[in-house]
Amino acid sequence: MEDDIVLSAPMFAGLDPAASAALIESMKTLDVARGDVIFHEGEPGDRLYVVRSGKIKLGRRSNDGRENLLAVLGPGEMFGELSLFDPGPRTATATVVADTTLLELGHQDLVAWLDAQPTVAQHLLQALARRLRRTNEALADLVFSDVPGRVAKALLDLSTRFGEEVDEGIRVAHDLTQEELAQLVGASRETVNKALADFAARGWVRREGRAVVLLDADRLERRAR
Ligand code: CMP
Repeated sequence: MEDDIVLSAPMFAGLDPAASAALIESMKTLDVARGDVIFHEGEPGDRLYVVRSGKIKLGRRSNDGRENLLAVLGPGEMFGELSLFDPGPRTATATVVADTTLLELGHQDLVAWLDAQPTVAQHLLQALARRLRRTNEALADLVFSDVPGRVAKALLDLSTRFGEEVDEGIRVAHDLTQEELAQLVGASRETVNKALADFAARGWVRREGRAVVLLDADRLERRAR
């Protein structure tokens, strides 16, 4: 059930079922379609979101118009909280990648919950720490890993969110265009394409439009190291 996934979001961890139900009740549901922008980098922000179903990409744009993706989030993940904990403009643009349902909560409402339920704050800190770990790792990969290594890692990371076991391996319906995949890896579309074609030739993956089947996750993991 969708709400089981929502309840795994950090702001619900540690709440009893009645409190979780009351929190969900106080949130607004938003149905959004691919390409919709939830908010832009630089705007003031006064609310945060939990993904109930679908996918959201968080991206930043350089002065010369190039885009970089910080993350692609799936069900149970939260975004839009940084401008609450560190008041200031939105640090990224949130765009819908596949049809999505979001739950929206005003920052002030979250503050009231944090006052009433201090364990929620602990879980939010844990989620922020996890994100910092992941960001540090991505930063190190940009410096130390080659593009095929980063592509292998991105596919494995996407598989933990969107992977589905099939007979041949894990099918990852990431819904990203080649351009978006390249923005996530931090390389050109051509180089990412070449890496994917090489993985396919080796029999590690099979490409299926905006999905990829991981046929040999062990080899990909070794390539990602
Ligand atoms: P906020 O700055 O309010 O709006 C953009 C959101 O993107 C931000 O809150 C975070 O929720 C999310 N975000 C920013 N940086 C990252 C990152 N490195 N990884 C995952 N999510 C991020």
